[in-house]
Amino acid sequence: MAKTINVGMVGYKFMGKAHSNAWRQVAVFYDPPFVPVLKAICGRNEKGVKEAKEKYGWESYETSWKDLIKRDDIDIVDINTPNSSHAEIAIAAAEAGKHVFLEKPMAMNLKEAKAMAQAVKRAGVKHMVGFNYRKFPALAYAKELIERGKIGRVYHFRSMYLQDWIVDPDFALVWRLDKTTAGTGAIGDLGAHIIDMAQFLIGDISSITATTETFIRERAIPEESGGLSAKGGTKRGKVTVDDAFVALARFKNGALGTFECTRFAIGHKNWGFFEINGSKGSMRFNLERSNELEYLSADEGDEQGFKTILVTNSTHPFMSAWWPPGHMLGWEHSHTIQVYHLLDSIGKDRLPEPSFFDGAKNQAVLEAIEKSSQDGKWHDIEEVKF
Ligand SMILES: NC(=O)c1ccc[n+]([C@@H]2O[C@H](COP(=O)([O-])OP(=O)(O)OC[C@H]3O[C@@H](n4cnc5c(N)ncnc54)[C@H](O)[C@@H]3O)[C@@H](O)[C@H]2O)c1
Repeated sequence: MAKTINVGMVGYKFMGKAHSNAWRQVAVFYDPPFVPVLKAICGRNEKGVKEAKEKYGWESYETSWKDLIKRDDIDIVDINTPNSSHAEIAIAAAEAGKHVFLEKPMAMNLKEAKAMAQAVKRAGVKHMVGFNYRKFPALAYAKELIERGKIGRVYHFRSMYLQDWIVDPDFALVWRLDKTTAGTGAIGDLGAHIIDMAQFLIGDISSITATTETFIRERAIPEESGGLSAKGGTKRGKVTVDDAFVALARFKNGALGTFECTRFAIGHKNWGFFEINGSKGSMRFNLERSNELEYLSADEGDEQGFKTILVTNSTHPFMSAWWPPGHMLGWEHSHTIQVYHLLDSIGKDRLPEPSFFDGAKNQAVLEAIEKSSQDGKWHDIEEVKF
């Protein structure tokens, strides 16, 4: 009989659904050292959380995360709540001796992120932040190619993360548009992801300058919302976060970076795009074509040109557990791969990646973007070491 590990999850809407699916699927595709038991799901609305428990297949439910964390039968706490509650729940979970899996962005600010990283370190528990894009086979393969020297010395990381779900002025004032709950707008929502990809692939950013804009400054307060959808009521309120930002960055290895992130790029749904140019080649990736990696080798003379690699062979990263070549993976599979990595790391007693330490490094960049958007200056990225 395989050993089991008990999961307690907080938040049951967009990411709660994605994570429930991942916990349910992981032992179907992989052989993790522990089979996860979906022990308890938590949400504040009893009717809603009860429905989610039934639908997603959890054994029990709680209406307070404090009660969830008190339970002796929970080993991992999986946090899928809005950003303002990440620190409090994660620190309490670590102090209760639970492993902590937390959605991105890690925190509201760098101070919180550091306190969280210190708490998990002190408690000696395992910790991971949900930068799930690292777990796309194409992205992991890009990293492999870079490490094999296929790009050579990296000169440029050019990126955009474009969505359009708030371009409609009648779209309601959801929590993602409220600074007290989200911390920032496009910075923490989209920027966190693309900056994680950049730092994962080519190394740490050393300094950054940025500017932000809020195009629509007032919206209807929602009657009902969840994930990326909302129905507005008759009362109106202020949008208190950025709708978009653009940033220029320098990496420690001498490369230059550009980041453009917006939820106002009409026609783009989840256009998380980067291109890397180096001395020996270039590569491109786009989340909307997530099974593909484009690569160009400078060695190919007159035949030089970008080729599209379908990253679905069993020899590509993470793929041996899945389908035959050409049978595509989707966004939800990255979450399954991510929880497999967490379980495997717990089994091998090693730090999962990205850990809270990586999350805090990410938060340091987000904070510098925010500061620069206020004073117009370049900001060195604060070194965070744990
Ligand atoms: N990795 C990704 O690609 C990705 C995608 C979307 C969202 N996220 C992140 O996931 C987190 C959740 O976002 P979402 O889109 O799922 O939000 P959502 O609004 O769909 O769901 C939030 C859930 O948290 C619950 N909640 C809020 N406060 C709570 C509390 N104090 N106690 C218990 N439950 C509480 C809500 O009731 C709801 O169930 C955010 O940090 C977001 O940035 C990550």
